[in-house]
Amino acid sequence: MNKAKRKAVIAGNWKMNKTAAEAAELISALIPEVAGAGCDVVVCTPFTDLPIAVSKTAGTNIAVGAQNVHFEKSGAFTGEISADMLTELGVQYVIIGHSERRQYFGETDITVNKRLKAALAAGLKVILCVGESLEQHQHGVTAELVAMQTKIALGGVSAEELKNVIIAYEPIWAIGTGLTATAEQAEEVCAVIRRVIASLYSEADAEAFTIQYGGSMNAKNADELLAQPDVDGGLIGGASLKAPDFAAIVRAASK
Ligand code: PGA
Repeated sequence: MNKAKRKAVIAGNWKMNKTAAEAAELISALIPEVAGAGCDVVVCTPFTDLPIAVSKTAGTNIAVGAQNVHFEKSGAFTGEISADMLTELGVQYVIIGHSERRQYFGETDITVNKRLKAALAAGLKVILCVGESLEQHQHGVTAELVAMQTKIALGGVSAEELKNVIIAYEPIWAIGTGLTATAEQAEEVCAVIRRVIASLYSEADAEAFTIQYGGSMNAKNADELLAQPDVDGGLIGGASLKAPDFAAIVRAASK
């Protein structure tokens, strides 16, 4: 597999952090720090920050993403946001199936698949999250679980549509805990995901497919994680909330 065929993508997942005013401040600080980066840079903000994020990043190398999207186009779905609402704002990316949505908001592999297809149909790029809990990790079922999550999420997705999908492997036990998967653990699971992509599509599609690691990635461990042959980028939570920390990871991915 040739890593050079893939674009590194570093995406910040701000989660439920930053008001619109704070978002404007963080983005202003980020713009000069990541200008000229050798990787794609994305910030996934709360819905309420999207308009300011899109206007602030206009003309820069930073793309803006949302953290969820509903699968219906419109209708009686109180509190939900459709893909068209996002694209009209100029949003380019959306995170789908984050473990916090699966854990706290009843997201299932089936709803992940529905959201993913709706997002792709609207022209959004998807960052699909997969990953195992600590218990599943201890039972040694990570590879099966991640393969299953990947297969169900990508059901009905064509090879052409796959070009707009990235997968983020995020072991739940490493998210926000300060416990990072070792570079070997991250590589092993990212390689499993790439094999699943090859089995569902083709070797060429798998070779061109971007896979991120997420879970306590920071300026210190980014180099080693990103050096792994199947780790093409990162989905960054905590460390994306401070411009210098996020920029350091972007620099690590630009090497
Ligand atoms: P973390 O979050 O970097 O704070 O562990 C990653 C994520 O949940 O996407």
